Amino acid sequence: MADSWEKLLEECNSCNACELCKTRTNCVFGVGNKNADILFVGEAPGDNEDKTGTPFVGRAGQLLNKFLFAVDISREDVYIANILKCRPPKNRDPLPEEEDACIDFLRRQVKLIDPKIIVCLGRISAMRLIKPDFKITAEHGKWFKKGNFLITAVYHPALLLRDPRRKEDMLADMKAIKAQLDKMNKDSQ
Ligand code: URA
Repeated sequence: MADSWEKLLEECNSCNACELCKTRTNCVFGVGNKNADILFVGEAPGDNEDKTGTPFVGRAGQLLNKFLFAVDISREDVYIANILKCRPPKNRDPLPEEEDACIDFLRRQVKLIDPKIIVCLGRISAMRLIKPDFKITAEHGKWFKKGNFLITAVYHPALLLRDPRRKEDMLADMKAIKAQLDKMNKDSQ
């Protein structure tokens, strides 16, 4: 049977495939344009996201919004999701078994959206979606071709809050992402 957003959301909200379902307030399914050209993928919900059910609404999300605005990408035009749909306690890194239990939701979201570009926000997402030995400091901004889409990684906005010196690199990567998208849209006309 064909997949659908309704089915996916329902399955996600009632998922108990890992222990995180016991401590979640809300599943943080994803938000944005379901026909987006760009899909941003973070790591896992934090406290604000768990409370609201929406990804990237806390301080890291506000910083992400600033970078999107700076390169003229509207948050309403993109889709934003995470590797994990439920918050790990005390915001610890996702466990491999939690990622394994959850990743099919993201896979199905990718299929439904069919984006031109996927942007990994941070190393956890890049290690899962690009390659297990991905090095964010050395390889942020590099492009990889997978299936129907191009994929790249940028610094996680939460890292930029802790280390603002990396914001310059983030801006350069975001500009390159916007330029890549403009090029792909022009080529397909
Ligand atoms: N950090 C993430 O990786 N995802 C969110 O949704 C919020 C913070």
